Amino acid sequence: MNTSKTVVLITGALTGIGRATALAFAREGAAVAVSGRRDEAGHALAAELRALGARAEYLRADVRVEADVRALVEQVVERFGRLDVAVNNAGTEGQLGLLTEQSEDNYRATFDTNVLGTLLSLKHEMRVMLKQGHGAIVNLSSIAGQVGFPGASIYVGSKHAVEGLTKSAALEGAAAGVRVNAVAPGPVQTEMLDRFTGGNEDAKSGFLASLPARRAGSPEEIAQTILFLASDKARFLTGQCVNVDGGFTAQ
Ligand SMILES: NC(=O)c1ccc[n+]([C@@H]2O[C@H](COP(=O)([O-])OP(=O)(O)OC[C@H]3O[C@@H](n4cnc5c(N)ncnc54)[C@H](O)[C@@H]3O)[C@@H](O)[C@H]2O)c1
Repeated sequence: MNTSKTVVLITGALTGIGRATALAFAREGAAVAVSGRRDEAGHALAAELRALGARAEYLRADVRVEADVRALVEQVVERFGRLDVAVNNAGTEGQLGLLTEQSEDNYRATFDTNVLGTLLSLKHEMRVMLKQGHGAIVNLSSIAGQVGFPGASIYVGSKHAVEGLTKSAALEGAAAGVRVNAVAPGPVQTEMLDRFTGGNEDAKSGFLASLPARRAGSPEEIAQTILFLASDKARFLTGQCVNVDGGFTAQ
């Protein structure tokens, strides 16, 4: 990929995997639009990316709101001239707990972010990319998009839906040169993992010790796979989900 000419949009970019991905693209010389809901943190991240020599801007958007997502994509095209790569990273684990205790509210909150948010992002990104005749999109799934987890049924359902959206979008984009893939991280050392393990260090280290690789992944390790999927090296790769999980789903 000639990243010096690549225009990249990342949703939910202010923390964790999104932030690491923004930094990795910036280091490769891409122009990066970082999006999120906290203006101060967003402007600070854009400044950090510019300090690395990248062209970068923060644009506010809540991925659950179509007007926000439409305006976000429009602004990227207006300011950067086109949209080459989109990373649909914004996501939430919602309220974890047994299925028998789940509520409609938690279902709606989790699916609105993870499923509707991904759908709206795909819709507006693909409209631009199909017109351009090129583009690469990477959605964030999870190992919870591949297998079940007790106590995380709604999150699991939402990430399975992200994989379905990825395949259908890939089929609609393939002939026009628009590729759509997903990455499915295993446990990654971010705030989300701490929330998943209830902020309990013993629970976290016990869980990590049970994994094939005996450790969590780093946000940078996920970012590198996203960069590969977005690059020309992956130009015949579409509609796939790459598990970056230290062997978890090989078990
Ligand atoms: N950390 C892990 O172990 C792990 C594992 C598998 C998959 N993932 C997925 O990776 C992605 C990134 O997660 P992370 O680990 O960096 O956690 P994170 O909580 O640090 O990042 C998620 C980001 O999305 C943002 N976000 C949430 N709802 C949003 C909305 N409605 N609009 C805009 N932004 C919104 C959050 O503010 C946050 O910045 C998520 O989709 C997550 O499901 C994470």
